Amino acid sequence: MSDQSPTTEQTLSNLLKEDRRFEPPAELAANANLTAEAYERAASDREGFWAEQAQRLTWTEPWTQVLDWSDPPFAKWFVGGKLNAAYNCVDRHVEAGRGDKVALHFVGEPVDDTRDITYAELQSLVSQAANALTDLGVDAGDRVAIYMPMIPEAVVAMLACARLGAPHTVVFGGFSADALASRLEDCQAKVVVTADGGYRRGSASALKPAVDEAREKAAAQGHDVEKVLVVRRTGQDLGEGGWDDAVDVWWHDVVDSASTEHTPEAFDAEHPLYVMYTSGTTGKPKGILHTTGGYLTGSAYTHWAVFDLKPETDVYWCTADIGWVTGHSYIVYGPLANGVTQVLYEGTPDSPERGRWWDIIEKYGVTLFYTAPTAIRSFMKQGREIPDQRDLSTLRILGSVGEPINPEAYVWYREVIGGGKTPVVDTWWQTETGSIMISPLPGVTHGKPGSAMIPIPGVSADVVTEEGVSVGNGAGGYLVLTEPWPSMLRTIWGDDERFKETYWSKYSEQGWYFAGDGAKLDDDGDLWVLGRVDDVMNVSGHRLSTTEIESALVSHPAVAEAAVVGAKDEDTGQAVCAFVILRESAASQADDDGEGDDIVKSLRLHVRKEIGPIATPRQIMIVPELPKTRSGKIMRRLLRDVAEHREVGDVTTLADSSVMELISAGVSSGKGED
Ligand code: PRX
Repeated sequence: MSDQSPTTEQTLSNLLKEDRRFEPPAELAANANLTAEAYERAASDREGFWAEQAQRLTWTEPWTQVLDWSDPPFAKWFVGGKLNAAYNCVDRHVEAGRGDKVALHFVGEPVDDTRDITYAELQSLVSQAANALTDLGVDAGDRVAIYMPMIPEAVVAMLACARLGAPHTVVFGGFSADALASRLEDCQAKVVVTADGGYRRGSASALKPAVDEAREKAAAQGHDVEKVLVVRRTGQDLGEGGWDDAVDVWWHDVVDSASTEHTPEAFDAEHPLYVMYTSGTTGKPKGILHTTGGYLTGSAYTHWAVFDLKPETDVYWCTADIGWVTGHSYIVYGPLANGVTQVLYEGTPDSPERGRWWDIIEKYGVTLFYTAPTAIRSFMKQGREIPDQRDLSTLRILGSVGEPINPEAYVWYREVIGGGKTPVVDTWWQTETGSIMISPLPGVTHGKPGSAMIPIPGVSADVVTEEGVSVGNGAGGYLVLTEPWPSMLRTIWGDDERFKETYWSKYSEQGWYFAGDGAKLDDDGDLWVLGRVDDVMNVSGHRLSTTEIESALVSHPAVAEAAVVGAKDEDTGQAVCAFVILRESAASQADDDGEGDDIVKSLRLHVRKEIGPIATPRQIMIVPELPKTRSGKIMRRLLRDVAEHREVGDVTTLADSSVMELISAGVSSGKGED
């Protein structure tokens, strides 16, 4: 954790002052799904406990072995079992007589654009989409990319793929054509499901042109996408050449007319369910592979336990986008496997005005709400008057995910949104873990603002030193998961070696999974996640790789070299700060014309185009040199000091220690700041 120490120490000193405690409300505790006894039961027979959780699902063929861990780190859960994920999320609820229950309260961003979809309707829609995809040539095992706004068809497309055993890879609609292209190519997607566009901040925002561009780029790399299935959402003009009859197919032409009957096939528990790309420290994004039985068990169990789900009465809402793992586990698979009624919202929190989210909670009587600290902080900034004007009294549990929630935001969330009575569950997990690993249980554990508390029953975690020794209470170290769990990633798509190296090599002797996060145990043994120990940033709950942004910057003709760091940011948790060395020609021209500002602007636009708006640097500093070790490794720790306006730390390992003076001097004179 040495590379992270300035941030870590600062966080630690803030955390240490925290002594507020919130007990579970009595009524919730009395009716809680899980009680304290579950921790012991799970610890004494972990596999037995998970086998019990797997019974939440409907299996076509029972498994013969809970866990095969004979070839670590390649796990097989529920060996020999067969099931269909879509059947579990949809059909079985209809068969159980709950077909009329609302599955999705869809809320489009345009006001009054709403649509309720029952489980029976969802079954028809998923069956139609599965039939249409089959007609487009999709077979079990084929990959399908989904690049869509938050509309019901996105959920339907995911479930249709699951129904066919065709692993989906959902690419966040905010990602650029380049990002989409690299994912299409990496997983060799046969078909793309998209929409003409979606509504963002009051206007129609196009998606289809990015698919066209990505398809071209993938083709240039030798991968041809066969078909593109397009939902008409906004009706916007697709532009000249925006439709290719040989490839493009309208959803309403082929799905709406398809049969509503479709018999789901049962797949092996280890059949691939989806690939979700996530940033790594080096090289291209990693395609995290999740499989069917274990993943569905993990997401259904955690959704039920952590939100104390009462499927008959709860109305649930998770504000994540389906382009992130949270949308997979806690909009699609967990909640639907549990047969809950949920809200699906297309747009931004402040469109058409700042109270939009609270209006939705009031209108649908939302009881369980799951969002990210970055959103909470932005609401805090707007003030409590806005939520105070709405009736939020139906809320009974509030969840937080994606980054550490600072204690002030936690308390505000609990007080203002939760009326001072609603427990907050701070849930720690990752794309790789598939489902929540560390979180309070709202009816059992008390809450401590800023702490994710303890591993949920069935999960084993520890905080250890570099050598793998438990740090014990009151100390910090590396967060590890010490036992396999059903929803664990199975590999990195197409790269078993990278999978082993990235997650299992640091503690290979012990056979532990290293999560890449630093954490601290307080004096009570409760866990505080401190953030990434590597060079990945967390911006608004989205994990971004420094390397990817650096590569984007360097691909600009004016840039010679770039280093990117995440600096603390009040609103987004971390913000992207870039240090850039210009090519000589560009630098002298900028000096001559006094056009440094223009270059900064064009670099920001460039990153936006290459990766997407989320990766746009908050700040770009033009510097003469970058701090490097003798072996040429950029010392980002020192750059973080500059970006966070701290005194620069130890520079003794720098090849040239005067470099930092040059950088600091340039920055403090304001040169090159955006
Ligand atoms: O650093 C941790 C942070 O987000 C990372 C995982 O990011 P991703 O795979 O994109 O998944 C986000 C949604 C689960 C983790 O390694 N993180 C996530 N949840 C928390 C968190 N950090 C602190 N507290 C959390 N509750």
